[in-house]
Amino acid sequence: MPTDTHADAPSLSALVRSRTTTDHRSAERSGFPSALVRGEVALEGYVDLLAQHRYAYEVLEEVRDRHLSDPDVGPFLDARLLRSQALADDLVDLAGPTWSVAHPPSAATVAYVEAIAATAVDPVAHLAHHYTRYLGDLSGGQFIGRVAASTYGLGDGRAGRFATFAGIDDPAAYRDEYRARLDALDWPVDRQEALVAAVHEAYRHNEAVFDDLARHVD
Ligand code: HEM
Repeated sequence: MPTDTHADAPSLSALVRSRTTTDHRSAERSGFPSALVRGEVALEGYVDLLAQHRYAYEVLEEVRDRHLSDPDVGPFLDARLLRSQALADDLVDLAGPTWSVAHPPSAATVAYVEAIAATAVDPVAHLAHHYTRYLGDLSGGQFIGRVAASTYGLGDGRAGRFATFAGIDDPAAYRDEYRARLDALDWPVDRQEALVAAVHEAYRHNEAVFDDLARHVD
C-alpha cells in the first residue's frame, strides 16, 4: 500500500468534491446562471452561453484524443459524453450557420481554451477539466437544460441537444460510476492534490466565463 496517500483519507471523489464545494457554490450563485435558472435571460444570452461552451468543448474534445490510451485517464473519456457536435447543432438551429460571427469567444473563454489546450501534455489536468465540465453537465446542467427547454421552447427537433446524452439514461447512476472510477485510482497524494488544484482552476475559468456573460443580465 502506498504510504504517500492521504492518511485516513476520504475517497478521491469525496476529496475533490469537498475541496471544491466553495468553488461550486460560487459558480452556481453567480449572476448569469442564477438568472438563467429563473428564466430571466433572453434567448440571445443563452445562445452566447452555448457559443462560449462550444469553444471550450471543441478544444477539450480535440485534446481528448491525446489521452485515450492513458491507463488512468483514458477510461473516463467516454464518447457518449462528447458535446461539441451537439452544441454546434444547437447553435445552427438557434442562430444559423454564422453563429460564431455574432458570438465570438470572450476574453474569459480565450483564457479557458488556452488552459484546456495546455492539458494536452498533462493527463491529470485533462481529467480535472473533464470532470468539471461533464459531471456538471450531468448534474446541474440537466436542470438548466430543462429550464432552457421551457424558457425558449426548445426540444422536438429544435436545439436542446446540449443537455441530452444519448446512451446515458440515468445521469445520477453515471455520476456514481464516474466517482467510483476516481476512487479506484491508486494515486499518490501529490497527484491527488494536482487534480484538486486543476479542478479549482477549471471552476475559476467557468466562473470568469459566466461573469462575462452577465452583461446579458439586466
Ligand atoms: C445554476 C447552476 C448550477 C446548478 C443548479 C448546479 C447544480 C448541481 C447539483 C445539484 C449537483 C449535485 C449532483 C449530485 O449530488 O450528484 C452538482 C454537481 C456538480 N456541478 Fe453543478 N450546478 C451548477 C453550476 C455548475 C457549474 C458552473 C459547474 C462548473 C462548470 C458545475 C460543476 C459541477 C460538478 C463538477 C458537479 C459534480 C460534483 C461531484 O459530485 O463530484 N456546476 N451541480
